[in-house]
Amino acid sequence: MLPLDVLYLPEEPAHNAEIEEINAEAFGPGRFAKAAYKIREGGPHDLKLSFVAVRNGSVVGSVRMTPVSAGEGRAVLLGPLAVRPAHKNLGIGRKLVAIAQKAAEDHGHGAVVLVGDEPYYGPLGFKMIPPGQVRMPRPVDPRRLLSYEIVPGTTAALKGEMNHAAVPGR
Ligand SMILES: CC(C)(COP(=O)(O)OP(=O)(O)OC[C@H]1O[C@@H](n2cnc3c(N)ncnc32)[C@H](O)[C@@H]1OP(=O)(O)O)[C@@H](O)C(=O)NCCC(=O)NCCS
Repeated sequence: MLPLDVLYLPEEPAHNAEIEEINAEAFGPGRFAKAAYKIREGGPHDLKLSFVAVRNGSVVGSVRMTPVSAGEGRAVLLGPLAVRPAHKNLGIGRKLVAIAQKAAEDHGHGAVVLVGDEPYYGPLGFKMIPPGQVRMPRPVDPRRLLSYEIVPGTTAALKGEMNHAAVPGR
């Protein structure tokens, strides 16, 4: 595939139905029981930090980012990240993460956190948050609670229960 074949665009409300379909396909009904989903139920994701990959006019991948707090700490929660099965292993997932990381930095966020597989996210700069430091609203394997730190000290400031935080500018 030529890299130019895929467009990376900021998410717009018109993408919502396609994104919901992609997430349903990727995660199934189990997605509603996830800790990150519970946090995202607390309020909207930030469209300024959320992106879609579009190929031949269709959304084939999506990443969303949601502002969160834990104690005095603030960060953005990455997820869901999903790519249509027919478009996997083309670098779209990694590119969406890179775009989200850059957008978080450009908007002054100090860290991007997520619940996900270290073997995928580790090479993209994510490191495990020390076990016990942050509590999620539902149980997660502590090895899957990861942070990409932009401003040193931001991850350490995240303490206690993680919750949705207000979207800046809304
Ligand atoms: C995970 C996902 C977003 C990756 O998207 P993608 O566009 O296929 O990813 P990329 O092309 O950037 O990267 C592909 C590489 O990541 C690897 N990879 C994919 N999922 C992985 C995982 N869970 N753990 C480790 N490596 C993984 C692939 O094997 C491939 O490795 P290679 O480059 O050595 O061949 C996609 O597989 C997906 O939608 N999965 C279902 C939903 C999901 O699990 N989302 C992440 C939850 S946090």
